[in-house]
Amino acid sequence: MWVNYPNNPTGAVASEAFFAELIDFAQANQIMVCHDAPYLHVTYDDYRAPSLLQVPDAREVTVEFNSLSKTYNMAGWRLGMACGHAQAIAALHSLKSNVDSSQFPVIQDAGIKALTGDQNWYAERNTVYQERRDIVLNSLSEAGLIAHKPQAAMYVWAKIPPGRQSGEFTRVLLEEIGVSVTPGSFFGEYGEGYFRISLSTSTPRVQEAMKRISAWL
Ligand SMILES: Cc1ncc(COP(=O)(O)O)c(C=O)c1O
Repeated sequence: MWVNYPNNPTGAVASEAFFAELIDFAQANQIMVCHDAPYLHVTYDDYRAPSLLQVPDAREVTVEFNSLSKTYNMAGWRLGMACGHAQAIAALHSLKSNVDSSQFPVIQDAGIKALTGDQNWYAERNTVYQERRDIVLNSLSEAGLIAHKPQAAMYVWAKIPPGRQSGEFTRVLLEEIGVSVTPGSFFGEYGEGYFRISLSTSTPRVQEAMKRISAWL
């Protein structure tokens, strides 16, 4: 089973109790749980996202993946990590070493610096995302749109205005006011009726985009 918390695109988070249930389910059904967890350290309002590996004995049935893309702003550098079930990690290692001959060493050195340096800076970076999150949530609420307040990940997941399709709504925003957001339907059938706003654009541009969306609505 493949899971992803904190979640892209919804920003949903999982409790430790839910993770414990997931591990019980995996043990009872003899399956592995792969946890795609690149947003573990992109969190707001003092929230700390749990690792699936915090559940006792989780590593018997789990592999957890993380990436330097989000925590360390290294998207595109292609550095990540996997932790958990020893045999699964060994298989992954064997597969990976047959696919390529490791990452460019300079990028590995940068990864070592990122992982072993002062870790306080990304709390400050998270406050920047949080400020953008609040700008987005306030303008959506003023415009009468319903959105989930995320405690983690860098997206706001919001309902589109009633009577519209998410693909059509986001196309109109792009073509008429030059604002790019992602239609919920892009993520699968249950995403219909929603759109996703990314918080990874600079704060003045997020402000400008929200002004345009409010004026257009
Ligand atoms: C849930 C999730 N997993 C993985 C990735 C990709 O991570 P990477 O840059 O390490 O390929 C993303 C990036 O958007 C993501 O949202």
